[in-house]
Amino acid sequence: GRVLLHQEALPSLPVPPLQQTLDRYLQALQPIISEEEWNHTQELVNEFRRPGGVGERLQKGLERRAKKTENWLSDWWLKTAYLEYRLPVVVHSSPGVVLPKQDFLDRQGQLRFAAKLIEGVLDFKTMIDNETLPVEYMGGKPLCMNQYYQILSSCRIPGPKRDSIVNYAKGKKQSRHITVVHNFQFFELDVYNSDGSPLTTDQLFIQLEKIWNTSLQTNKEPIGILTTNHRNSWAKAYNNLLKDKTNKESVRAIEKSIFTVCLDAPMPRVSEDIYKSRVAAQMLHGGGSRWNSGNRWFDKTLQFIIAEDGSCGLVYEHAPSEGPPIVTLLDHIVEYTKKPELIRSPMIPLPMPKKLRFNITPEIKTDIEKAKQNLNIMVQDLDVKVMVFHQFGKNFPKSEKISPDAFIQQALQLAYYRMYGHACATYESASLRMFRLGRTDTIRSTSVDSLKFVQAMDKPDKSVRISKKRNLLRRATQAHREYADMAIRGNAIDRHLLGLKLQAIEDLVSIPELFMDTAYAVAMHFNLSTSQVPAKTDCVMCFGPVVPDGYGVCYNPMAEHINFAISAFNSCAETNAARMAHYLEKALLDMRMLLQSTPKSKL
Ligand code: COA
Repeated sequence: GRVLLHQEALPSLPVPPLQQTLDRYLQALQPIISEEEWNHTQELVNEFRRPGGVGERLQKGLERRAKKTENWLSDWWLKTAYLEYRLPVVVHSSPGVVLPKQDFLDRQGQLRFAAKLIEGVLDFKTMIDNETLPVEYMGGKPLCMNQYYQILSSCRIPGPKRDSIVNYAKGKKQSRHITVVHNFQFFELDVYNSDGSPLTTDQLFIQLEKIWNTSLQTNKEPIGILTTNHRNSWAKAYNNLLKDKTNKESVRAIEKSIFTVCLDAPMPRVSEDIYKSRVAAQMLHGGGSRWNSGNRWFDKTLQFIIAEDGSCGLVYEHAPSEGPPIVTLLDHIVEYTKKPELIRSPMIPLPMPKKLRFNITPEIKTDIEKAKQNLNIMVQDLDVKVMVFHQFGKNFPKSEKISPDAFIQQALQLAYYRMYGHACATYESASLRMFRLGRTDTIRSTSVDSLKFVQAMDKPDKSVRISKKRNLLRRATQAHREYADMAIRGNAIDRHLLGLKLQAIEDLVSIPELFMDTAYAVAMHFNLSTSQVPAKTDCVMCFGPVVPDGYGVCYNPMAEHINFAISAFNSCAETNAARMAHYLEKALLDMRMLLQSTPKSKL
């Protein structure tokens, strides 16, 4: 009841005014396309916006949709961004989180930590089940809490053209078990006692030991690797896999489970400076078919990964939720694992967790082999670098009265410009959770002001005075903050433009020229795809680039340092994650120096 009341009181996502979006679209194009292209696009915009024209008709359609639905965008977004997206979820969609290294070094420690973690998730789940989860606020406004109710007991199911999501969080079919994977073997572990109380750490530890001891063989078929495939191939393989009754039951048990715990084999040891980058890769893809990629079911919304060597984190399937609710859950778990364990009463023996069996036919075997090949190519292709920027954290920009997020985004602009000599379309996620069922819109970090700043920054001081550069930096960060505010209030341009395009498809009218224009393609080709995912825990989220020649950049600004995870593809000769990290570090330092320098000092 409480949740429903809260949800109903939230405002609906507005449809921004048409003329406003079109003006802002033209503005956003200025720093990323030539004047000639811009003039051409302006003509298309003028045609689109004319009174009684196609723009107005589509806008009216959107406004009607907004009246009829809880959120005019959320269903469309779920389908377009996730369920109809055909690339593998691995690397291309599912984010990972790197947690600080745990100080255990053996199996006992691994299982004890896993048990405590499971207990921590179940503790959080109690708040979800009782509807006692505290409402979150942004800028004093309550946020939509719906995503919290979608992340447990859910799973993505592949389909030939479109995937779907199942959820077993409520009702008679409510899940009572989790899945545990070890050496590519899946187990169904009931995590509630018959009286409905969750299993304690001690009980869970014993159950995990049983699982471990019955899955010591290391030659099992990595069935989970099928979930790493292109969605159409996986959908075919899925139908094939489920023809067998045992396989079907096993897959259903995984899909229905509350979440998955992956007990990973240790990865090869690496030096301290690349350790975190290696863990980020392990979280994103599992390291390939020889390592832990078969120790996953990537369609599962939440998979916690705990390796024997103390590396741990998670990977999550993106369709049901954005990063912030996932990280809030993680913060809760991390705090929970630090609590001292209570002394428990004697334990009643528990049944052996059920092993989920798979019958591998020759056809399934071929599907697994194909999936392995494709996955190993993806693993080779992903270049990921975790950088801990130690020199300062969000306190420094705050002390300069600058939004830390805007400061970091301008540093990314400067780094990119220094590397490539031009600006690119840049995506930053902005939360739309002030609205009912709100997901995200895009903050376009590249602006006329950001371009002016990055162009001036490296000009010799004689030609552009330091005070001028400083003003340009301040102006660029203000422009960024203004765009961010506009986005979180539902007035950004990207989802509105997408809505107009999808409305045209739904109305069966031809797609307006505006969306067939090269400038539109350039605007949607996000060479920098970025996101801030703040956490109390000293962790970092990571994700892959969204275009073949781009970067994925995720960051967690802490008070005195910033955690960055940067990704690129090795197959693109022009991109390099470590190089981007180097330029980013330099940009952050140079920007601090600029703000701190006196008018006479030299940069
Ligand atoms: N002077 C001093 N302090 C300032 C400031 C200024 N000019 N501007 C901002 N600050 C402070 C803020 O008050 C805030 O303080 P806090 O640390 O006490 O909370 C802090 O600096 C951070 O603010 P800012 O850097 O501006 O960012 P934000 O926290 O408002 O976040 C977005 C901005 C866009 C990232 C956020 O609104 C958002 O939408 N996040 C969701 C992103 C998302 O969904 N990502 C996941 C995708 S999977």
